[in-house]
Amino acid sequence: MFPELICFIIFFMLSFVINQKRLHKSFDSQIRIPNKVVIVTGANTGIGFETAKELARRGGRVILACRNLTKAHEAATKIKLATGHNVVVKHLDLASFRSILAFAKDIIKTEGRVHILINNAGTGVLDNSLTEDNLPIEAQVNHFGPFLLTMLLLPVMKNAPETARIINVTSILHVFGTVENLDKQGKNFLERRRVYANTKLANILFTKKLAEEVFSTNDNIMVNCCHPGAVYTDMFRDQPRIVKWMLKLMFLTPKQGAQTSIFLAVQELMPGLHTSGRYYTNCREDQPFAAAMDRGNAQRLWDLSFKVCFADRRW
Ligand SMILES: NC(=O)c1ccc[n+]([C@@H]2O[C@H](COP(=O)([O-])OP(=O)(O)OC[C@H]3O[C@@H](n4cnc5c(N)ncnc54)[C@H](OP(=O)(O)O)[C@@H]3O)[C@@H](O)[C@H]2O)c1
Ligand SMILES: *[C@@H]1O[C@H](CO)[C@@H](O)[C@H](O)[C@H]1NC(C)=O
Ligand SMILES: *[C@@H]1O[C@H](CO)[C@@H](O)[C@H](O)[C@H]1NC(C)=O
Repeated sequence: MFPELICFIIFFMLSFVINQKRLHKSFDSQIRIPNKVVIVTGANTGIGFETAKELARRGGRVILACRNLTKAHEAATKIKLATGHNVVVKHLDLASFRSILAFAKDIIKTEGRVHILINNAGTGVLDNSLTEDNLPIEAQVNHFGPFLLTMLLLPVMKNAPETARIINVTSILHVFGTVENLDKQGKNFLERRRVYANTKLANILFTKKLAEEVFSTNDNIMVNCCHPGAVYTDMFRDQPRIVKWMLKLMFLTPKQGAQTSIFLAVQELMPGLHTSGRYYTNCREDQPFAAAMDRGNAQRLWDLSFKVCFADRRW
């Protein structure tokens, strides 16, 4: 029974990833976004890099928010060469609340408004270590950090006269997630393996919750999330050579993976609750798994995130 089950799962996953290449859609509209202020976190590589490059090509004032300035400046040079547009580089380490606070203050002072925020940075490190803020690193980089960043930037997003947009890059792996104890270290092998999925579930729950909260006071902000597909990026940098080679063959390229983020950033969508708080993949709306639709989960996570990012700290 057991080997058959594993074979079945492997077969299912293989056909899923192979199929996605066939079904992949590119976003080919020519809409431009001149002078819109765009922040892309984790923009030095992978999906974030391709997203930033394309938004710069469309005329946006793009800010690469990265933890490693060397890599970020290299990325900025590549974007300049490819598009002819300059982009701005700023330091942001999502594993540190201090860094997030400094970044947000800087943006509020120097830009004054933000039209598009793409919470793209993410990590799949499995070392279960704690950050300087005493949180498990994956939970902070993938959820609590972007949560704090989004909350701090909300006031300047409301300043924009046009509709502002928040886009969270989540993952289909949210199907394995739970949001209980997101601020606690995994106690055993399985719990540790699950943290990534937990944070990606949190991304969707938050998207829905924030869309509602924001909409009740301001209908000019759209909050959505997307699953980029299975994409071959630096995320797999530590895998053995043979695994990397296979993944490269089967998975989407970062450019393909960036299409839905770009779509959500530039596509003209009528503002309203029917276009906000949604989950998109392959440039269209899709239904996330049940845990991501649960209002109880969303409320508990909202309360926990406020406690972790605000109540427990003095800024
Ligand atoms: N690849 C996939 O198949 C896939 C599938 C579903 C969802 N996603 C999601 O897509 C997003 C982008 O991932 P990717 O595949 O493009 O991975 P990637 O190539 O590894 O890029 C991740 C980015 O996040 C940055 N980052 C990591 N820790 C950070 C921190 N503490 N502070 C600031 N930035 C940090 C990385 O910076 P460094 O270069 O300095 O490490 C890098 O720029 C992630 O949210 C991921 O969960 C990916
Ligand atoms: C930043 O990236 C560069 C180039 O890849 C690397 O040599 C350096 O060690 C990194 N710095 C930090 C602080 O991680
Ligand atoms: C996602 O969006 C919500 C707002 O919808 C925000 O509070 C949260 O921190 C964002 N980031 C991630 C990566 O979940």
